[in-house]
Amino acid sequence: MGERLRVGVLASGTGSNLQAIIDACRTGAVPAEVVLVISNVPTAQALERARACGVPAVVVDHRACPTRDAFESALREALDAHRVELVCLAGFLRILSARFTAAFAGRIMNIHPALLPAFGGKGMYGERVHQAVLASGARRSGCTVHFVTEVPDGGPIIAQASVPVEEGDTPARLAARVAQQEHRLYPLAVRLFAEGRVRLDGDRVTILPPAGSRLPTEVP
Ligand code: GRF
Repeated sequence: MGERLRVGVLASGTGSNLQAIIDACRTGAVPAEVVLVISNVPTAQALERARACGVPAVVVDHRACPTRDAFESALREALDAHRVELVCLAGFLRILSARFTAAFAGRIMNIHPALLPAFGGKGMYGERVHQAVLASGARRSGCTVHFVTEVPDGGPIIAQASVPVEEGDTPARLAARVAQQEHRLYPLAVRLFAEGRVRLDGDRVTILPPAGSRLPTEVP
């Protein structure tokens, strides 16, 4: 096997998706390696998770940077220094500029806890997403892995998984059901990317069949 894909994860919070990706890489299910974790929040649990797994973890605190440019330059420096090939946003609560997303075009992904293009965009994060889903009366929700562009939650969709909205659901119950799928879907998307099976044409993604197969692929 050739060298594994080098993944950098940007996270601001708990880091459960980070953990799922690290674990899937460790078991060999995903031919990639998390080589760097960056958080803008010095107390983020994601940093502890990374260190506990022996993954280099650094803080780039946006509050300590005079401008967004300076913040993003520091992110880029760290990612470049660790020769990161794929950037995964996993609960990263900073909006990235067009300049930054263009620099990583086609190799920066995010996971969102709803079925985009619904219930996404600026201000739609955390519990707010699930509250909005419940308020809408939607029967299903889920999660989406997508490429990141300068439009928040607006980049090309790579993979989705859906879950039912159940009678009497609270945002927390729905979030937990969605999270189970997130922890399956994000590693899957990283695997497909690492296998060279995620083809991006403009704003559309095609998932290519596994090498040697002529069957079309269904995702997930
Ligand atoms: C997830 O729900 C993800 O979809 C969203 O932020 C949350 C991060 O959770 N972008 P965790 O930090 O991975 O536990």
